[in-house]
Order: sequence, then structure tokens, then C-alpha cells
Amino acid sequence: MGQHDSFQVPYVGLKKEFDQRQAELLAAFSKVAANASYILREEVGLFEASISKMLGVRHVIGVNSGTDALFLALKALNIGSGDEVITVAHTFVATIAAIVHCGAKPVLVDIADDFNLAVATLEQAITVSTKAIIPVHMNGRCCDMEAILSIANKYGLHVVEDAAQSMGSHIDGTYAGTFGVINAFSLHPMKNLHCYGDGGVVTTNDDRLAKQLRLLRNHGQNPNKELVAFGFNSRLDNLQAAFLNINLKYFDGDIARRRQIALRYHAGLKDCAGLKLPNPPQQSSYFDVFSSYPIRCAERNRLLRHLQQKGIECFIHWETPLHRNEYLKLGHFSLPVTEQIVSEVLSLPIHPFLEDEQCDYVIDAVKEFFNGC
Ligand SMILES: Cc1ncc(COP(=O)(O)O)c(C=O)c1O
Repeated sequence: MGQHDSFQVPYVGLKKEFDQRQAELLAAFSKVAANASYILREEVGLFEASISKMLGVRHVIGVNSGTDALFLALKALNIGSGDEVITVAHTFVATIAAIVHCGAKPVLVDIADDFNLAVATLEQAITVSTKAIIPVHMNGRCCDMEAILSIANKYGLHVVEDAAQSMGSHIDGTYAGTFGVINAFSLHPMKNLHCYGDGGVVTTNDDRLAKQLRLLRNHGQNPNKELVAFGFNSRLDNLQAAFLNINLKYFDGDIARRRQIALRYHAGLKDCAGLKLPNPPQQSSYFDVFSSYPIRCAERNRLLRHLQQKGIECFIHWETPLHRNEYLKLGHFSLPVTEQIVSEVLSLPIHPFLEDEQCDYVIDAVKEFFNGC
């Protein structure tokens, strides 16, 4: 039995997805295996070209994870020892690990009510050593990129988007992953566009950085297989790319369903006093893709237990903010909003295979907690 099977409303829909798409996925596997095309073959190129077209970005380079996408993006910019990179503590550890593994120093700033980097805290974190800012588009919503880019331009800093959670989100038609000079996505099974293992992509409009990235992901070999640099082994698997090409066909529908569910949650829960909800879809120039549906309430732990007892699987991103982790030695940052938010946040199940009845069951269970609000 899988880890999510004991829940009446599981947090993820990967099994249902496989049920529905298995004929196509298995055919894709058979084709790749029959041709023995495993490393950097046609399917990777096709996937890169499709993402490039979808996002409106010149170069897309498939790599083996979102973590490597971030790390290699920073490497391509020559960020290293003596450099500072500004980001948030309310992120998956990979964002900060990428900075540390490049030899640079992470500088952490606070977040705002929408879980994204608080632009008002950015300028005071900039020093002579600052080289880049990594805005993290959390939960499927873009950061305030106009404000971030304006500060970055003022100080001559690179912007590297961590768009791991936000494939397909945009602001007035400009997509996450196209604002920064070089940007990272994850294709992990928990992401809106995913493969069935690890995967990631780097995006850039800069020809030189794209060329550098292609070298770095493949042992420093150029397209003629000449070794021209030291690189890494970080290629998107051709088999995973074949699966991604199938999931990409369903992507718009998947996002539309996520947004429908977000709207249903919003309509059902908006009158619960003491509960803070994400912005509903369709109310602004922000097109959110709801990779998570994070709600906030002062009695989060009690609400979590109540929902678990009802068979509803929830997720907390993340209980301990990274600057409070004793092993990472980042405790010198003061981030009051981050600390407040992580004590209150709880993500409800949201995925394209969640049925309306399941959403309503979740809504009723939350309402029951708030005495039928
Ligand atoms: C914000 C953020 N950054 C980076 C990553 C790392 O991506 P991956 O798991 O593909 O290495 C993730 C994925 O969990 C993420 O959510």
C-alpha cells in the first residue's frame, strides 16, 4: 500500500493520473526502450522546444533536478566564493543549498502575506558583495517581479528565479521563468508539470549562458563531443522527457482544474472567521497555478489533527524555517513574518484528480472545525 492510500482524500493524485494516462506512458516507454534512446536524445530536444514555446523563452535546457537547475544557473553566472546571494528562508532547502554549494553566502530576507519575498526588505539586504537575488515563486504564484527587477537593475544584480513550484504561472502574460537572466524549474513528481522521478529545466534568453549550461550539464562536452570545460552529469533523462511530452499535452487542463478547485475552496471557506485563504484565481493580473493551496489559522496544529482524523491528508510547507534549523547555521537572520506564517500554514489537497465531492468533504471538515462558519 502506498503512503497516501490510508487517506480518504490523499494529498497527491499520481496514482489516478497513472490510471488515466498509462496507455500513453507505457507506449512512450516502449518506444524509447525499443530505440535504446536514453541519453540526450530526440525526446529531450522535443520537450525543451515545447517549453521554450509555451513560456516564450529562447533557451530551455533539461537537467536532472530543480536543485541542479539552480546550482548550474548560479555556476553559469560564475557566482562563488566572496559573493552574496539574497533569497528567502521560506523555501525548500535546495534554493539555499545551491548558493552554499557554489561557495557563495546566502543572505535571507523575509516574506510577505502571499508567502513570496517581501520586496520592502530587499534593499537593506544588499551589500557590495551581493551578486544575485533568487525570488522563489511559492505555491504557484509569481513574486512581484516588476519591483524585484527594478531593484536588481538599480544595483546591477542578477535575478535568478526559483520557479520550481510555478510552471505556467504568469503576470499579464509574462511567464515565471522568463523574468530573470537564468532561471530554474523542478519537474519532480509533486510539481504541476512532472516526470516520474527527478528532473528540471533551466531557462534563459541569453545565448552565452545557454551554451554554458549545455556544457555544464554534460561533463563540459560541446555538441561535437569535444571536452572544453569541467562540467557535471546533470542531464534530463530521455525517458523522463518522453513522459513529460505526454504530461505536457494535459498541462493546460491540469492547471484549469487546479484553479477550479481553488475557486471552490475559496467559495466554500471565505466566510470562516480566523481562516486566511490564498487569493482566489482570476482576480488580478496574476495567473496563479496553485501547486499548493495554503491556508492559515492560529490553531493550525489542532486543525491538522482534525483533518487527519477525517481522513484528509494535508501538508505543511514547512514547519521549521531554514534559518531556525540548527544544522544549517543561518540563525543570525531575523525573519518575523516567515516565523509567523510557518506556525499557521497548512496546505489542503489540490491536484487535477481531486473530485468535487472530495473538495466539498474537505470544505465541510474545515467548516466543522470552525463551528460551521
Ligand atoms: C522552491 C523549490 N526550489 C527547489 C526545489 C528543488 O527541486 P528538485 O526537488 O527537483 O531538486 C523545489 C522542489 O522541491 C522547490 O519547491
